[in-house]
Amino acid sequence: MPVDYNVFTASNVLITGGLGFIGSALARRLVKLRAKVTLVDSLIPEYGGNLFNIHDIRDQVDVDLTDVRDTAAMSSLIRKRQFLFNLAGQTSHLDSMTDPVTDLEINAAAQLHILEACRQNNPEVKIVFASTRQIYGRPQYLPVDEKHSINPIDVNGINKLAGEMYHLLYNDVYGIRACALRLTNTYGPGMRVKDARQTFLGVWIRQLLEKKPIQIFGNGEQRRDFNFVSDVVEALLIVAANDASKGEVFNLGDKEHVGLKELAELLVRLNGAGTFELVPFPADRKAIDIGDYYADFGKIEKVLGWSPRVKLEEGLKQTLEYYRQNRAHYW
Ligand SMILES: NC(=O)c1ccc[n+]([C@@H]2O[C@H](COP(=O)([O-])OP(=O)(O)OC[C@H]3O[C@@H](n4cnc5c(N)ncnc54)[C@H](O)[C@@H]3O)[C@@H](O)[C@H]2O)c1
Repeated sequence: MPVDYNVFTASNVLITGGLGFIGSALARRLVKLRAKVTLVDSLIPEYGGNLFNIHDIRDQVDVDLTDVRDTAAMSSLIRKRQFLFNLAGQTSHLDSMTDPVTDLEINAAAQLHILEACRQNNPEVKIVFASTRQIYGRPQYLPVDEKHSINPIDVNGINKLAGEMYHLLYNDVYGIRACALRLTNTYGPGMRVKDARQTFLGVWIRQLLEKKPIQIFGNGEQRRDFNFVSDVVEALLIVAANDASKGEVFNLGDKEHVGLKELAELLVRLNGAGTFELVPFPADRKAIDIGDYYADFGKIEKVLGWSPRVKLEEGLKQTLEYYRQNRAHYW
């Protein structure tokens, strides 16, 4: 189904988590489509927000350093928007276990407040929520489709599920057009590489560029799928632009899935140098590891025509090059 990108031209768009990895890439694309873009972000240092992510579009977007838990501020920010991309989130699974209440406040309670603000001040808005494959828990079968049972195995998964369900509820009960994308591992320029809070792949890239061995937890046989950030941005735009997405959840994913050892070998090859080592799984991580996961994204492919374009090898090349050039802003 062709996407009518014209719907974004001159439209008023709010992106929560807009200084983060995916939010900033989405902002860049929306600026090109001549949307009026406002980014909300709290820039909490442990999270993925980084002003450098928008250095090239800084004068073309409005930035509001607000925490999404500030209900009064969000209530006013939500007004007069045609599109709300709801991407702000606490993303670390491990942090959600050590500080579960903060995760609850950001990933669930704040989402409910945002939806209430929409109901009261802007019921016409179209909302896209960034959900996660984590809500499925340990896969019972592969690839995982949207009919798979829901069984999150960490606090983050439970709170993201609540966030997702609030959006669907507000769609169904109040007619506020909302949908959710269940993202798989997303990677690319702008992701957090300081540590593994956002994705293990981030810290691997840092280890590689620092000439340290990439550390793979376990036997390296776990299989995963990956989406390059531009493909995820495209999916966000497609579901926002098309009301066939109303009240729906869609998996993102890729048909190409790789074992983690294979992935480390690929990174070393693309970098032209480097090593990796298998290390025992830290107990706290093992307890919340989902094992093999890759998605069946046939629903969004069939209903809205999305499929990933960027091959893993090509995306990783671009990502490595970005961090070679810009490491000073991300380390
Ligand atoms: N990257 C992935 O692989 C992946 C996978 C599944 C789901 N997701 C979801 O996609 C969304 C975007 O993820 P990302 O990879 O860009 O991560 P990110 O950490 O780069 O982006 C999230 C942004 O939200 C901001 N934020 C966090 N708490 C906030 C608060 N209380 N108030 C305002 N801003 C706040 C952070 O500062 C950050 O900029 C998240 O909701 C995440 O759960 C991402």
